[in-house]
Amino acid sequence: MAESMQGMKRTGRCAGFSKDNIGEKATVMGWVNKRRNLGGVIFIDVRDVSGVMQVVFKSENDKALFDKAETLRNEYVIAVSGTVIERDEETINPNLETGYIEIVADKLKILSEAETPPIDMSDASKTNELMRLKYRYLDLRRPVMQENFILRHKAVKATRDFFNENSFLEIETPFLTKSTPEGARDYLVPSRINKGSFYALPQSPQIFKQLLMVSGFDRYMQIVKCFRDEDLRADRQPEFTQIDVEMSFVDEDDILGINEQFIKRLMKESVDVDIKLPIKRMTYEEAMNRFGSDKPEIRFGLELVDLSDFLGTSSFKVFTGAVEKGGSVRAINIKGGYEKFSRREIDSLGEFVKTYGAKGMAWIAVDKEELKSPVIKFLSEREINTILERMGAETGDLICFIADSNKVVYDSLGALRMEVAKKLGLLEGTEEYSFLWVTHFPLMEFDDEAKRWTSTHHPFTSPLDEDLAKLETDPGSVRAKAYDIILNGVELGGGSIRIHRRDIQKKIFNLLGFSDEQAHERFGFLLDAFEYGVPPHGGIAYGLDRLIMLLAGKSSIRDVIAFPKIQNASCPMTDAPSVVDDIQLKELAIKLDLAQLQKQ
Ligand code: AMO
Ligand code: AMP
Repeated sequence: MAESMQGMKRTGRCAGFSKDNIGEKATVMGWVNKRRNLGGVIFIDVRDVSGVMQVVFKSENDKALFDKAETLRNEYVIAVSGTVIERDEETINPNLETGYIEIVADKLKILSEAETPPIDMSDASKTNELMRLKYRYLDLRRPVMQENFILRHKAVKATRDFFNENSFLEIETPFLTKSTPEGARDYLVPSRINKGSFYALPQSPQIFKQLLMVSGFDRYMQIVKCFRDEDLRADRQPEFTQIDVEMSFVDEDDILGINEQFIKRLMKESVDVDIKLPIKRMTYEEAMNRFGSDKPEIRFGLELVDLSDFLGTSSFKVFTGAVEKGGSVRAINIKGGYEKFSRREIDSLGEFVKTYGAKGMAWIAVDKEELKSPVIKFLSEREINTILERMGAETGDLICFIADSNKVVYDSLGALRMEVAKKLGLLEGTEEYSFLWVTHFPLMEFDDEAKRWTSTHHPFTSPLDEDLAKLETDPGSVRAKAYDIILNGVELGGGSIRIHRRDIQKKIFNLLGFSDEQAHERFGFLLDAFEYGVPPHGGIAYGLDRLIMLLAGKSSIRDVIAFPKIQNASCPMTDAPSVVDDIQLKELAIKLDLAQLQKQ
């Protein structure tokens, strides 16, 4: 039977005691982590958020108390009072802060009994993730999970402290709002009062933070939930948290500069790592050419080399065809790759790149005596020699080629270099945290399906001054004052300098195919605000969940979100989303399409 706490007061957390407390009375409360009955002596590890404390019950001291301790099971919640003593030599655990002491109990209350947990509390790998998420409150009891949230708290605190000390104001923006411009699908909320109308949950506070600049709050920040209805991945959730920042009277360097100070502070206070400033910068163009990615992992080489200039005129149709169609032939040299990969493994790399759209992967291996390759028969000796020279080929190397549109070449070689690095352990021994700014993103991309230009970031992103003239003649080559911050090959955040001139904003809307009316319907209040005096401004937003995931050394953001969703955007614990009462639907004037529901 569960008892009340009455008469007992916690004097500290389990790990809050040390040798200094020997001889003192103490009361701890928490969960039974482990129990050992050595016959006449029972050891109980009591666990709370701080750690564990070993408690001893001796039959010879108090038989009734000992018998009560015998009834304890894992995960019972208990309160124990006793005296802090030094452990016997042989029971010392030097790995624990509290490993030198224990409490000899003189009082025990069972505050709550517990069923056997449906998940393995000590080894997560023994339970599948779905079960862990169904019983998330138990999963979150595990110290390894609690550490993630302690880290998250520290990072959030460092963030607020930094921005506060630098005169930023934290201002909240609405959740029930109008569609925002980040380009994913909106989550909609029906309005009961305005039947037939819907709010959109914000994909980010983008427009509101710009309006706050118009209002004169020249430094804004907010730690804020954002909502995007998109396909989930390990680093994507339908609701996630941004550290959102906006500043007035600044240029790109000002924003990058203060954000570097922020990152330095954050890294020091959350994981005690000193980051060297300035953070490296690379243009989008360089990132794509060298790494085939706009979020390059730069801690190892395997860089792409463009061979289109001379292979575009070779007699191998696969190469020439790609170049003639405006694509390219590029290659990476896997140093020593021919010695490390078997023929079968090389073939499987060829299969791997196909998932990125490549039609095949040509390769040349530099064997001791001769070259091995399925494609050298199509190439002249001069071409082969130029390849070897440009690729810096040495005995044992494996050179892998992809010929295709630039997009496919970048995607497949970019992914191939990551795959090879994983297989060969190229990241081992490299620095733990590698930050990088990628700058000068293209302003717009052509959407082949929709046959129109779309913004790479969002329609308020400012073009580079020197590229303004090309807006009319060659929009695809216009670069933006837009930047991303990359950590270890993961896009951590991104932002831009915004357009504050109406004439340029209008031109961009036209290029994106918004008529004046459409632009006004979607963003009218922002355009109106821009009539009344707008400071030049810009900002950035970080994905907080991704940041914590990387700092905690995890590979999924689910591990650093207390109650995350699974792949199909549902929550196994609450069963959200769920059907609602007919009455609720009626109030909203919503009728379900039952025929379509049955098809699902
Ligand atoms: P952006 O759309 O690039 O920029 O988002 C900023 C950062 O948010 C994180 N992020 C996500 N994290 C988890 N799950 C998701 N579904 C998800 N989507 C995005 C990423 C990303 O880098 N308003 C602009 C910022 C600006 O221009 O100031 C914006 O939202 O880490
Ligand atoms: P094929 O002439 O199709 O038999 O291809 C000869 C070699 O070229 C094979 O090793 C293919 O994997 C490779 N290959 C085919 N298409 C491409 C491509 N687009 N880029 C690079 N290599 C390719």
